[in-house]
Amino acid sequence: MMNVLELMRIGPVIPVIVIDRIEYAVPLARALVAGGVRVLELTLRTPVALEAIKVIAGEVEEAIVGVGTISRAADFDASLKAGAVFGVSPGLTPDLVAAAKDSGLPLLPGVMTPSDVIAARSAGFQQLKLFPAQQAGGLGMLSALGGPFPDVTFCPTGGISAATAPEFLALKNVACVGGSWLTPADAVASGDWARITTLAREAAALRPAGMTKRMASR
Ligand code: 3PG
Repeated sequence: MMNVLELMRIGPVIPVIVIDRIEYAVPLARALVAGGVRVLELTLRTPVALEAIKVIAGEVEEAIVGVGTISRAADFDASLKAGAVFGVSPGLTPDLVAAAKDSGLPLLPGVMTPSDVIAARSAGFQQLKLFPAQQAGGLGMLSALGGPFPDVTFCPTGGISAATAPEFLALKNVACVGGSWLTPADAVASGDWARITTLAREAAALRPAGMTKRMASR
């Protein structure tokens, strides 16, 4: 299994996906993969979410499927059984830390304050999701967190759009961003997979600043 930092470096944007009809799962994942977006976060927000993870993991070979909106300890085992290879949570509590460690599912936990960062780092997590990123202070918050926590890498998520993603990706403590803009509800409902592939292609072409510097120094 890949670790969270490896997953975060695969692409600049992790789509946050809500699937409410199982028949959307495979074509939606294929549309994203066709646009170059392979790491997918399927949120546990609908009754078909686990089944969607299962069918995508089974049928869309290039997809790297994770589970989002983990908020209960039991979510870890259910997600692993469905075929998820990583998890994302909006926050972190001691019972989620224990369940993550017991299950072995790599976790990208959510934080929103310096105390959250300290607690997450003490629990062994150095890759964190700032959530909800825009509402928590956005670019200014991430820059400020870079002072006391230079060893932490963030995936800000929440309130980020195609227009603002480049500004987040330009920060040196941001490896990737998360967002739902790649999978607009109307495009999913109408089966407009071509539009989703276009959005994915545009997102996949963005470059995190840290990655550009690393590549330039090779
Ligand atoms: C969410 O919780 O749905 C994610 O953070 C995505 O947020 P967004 O819809 O603002 O991109």
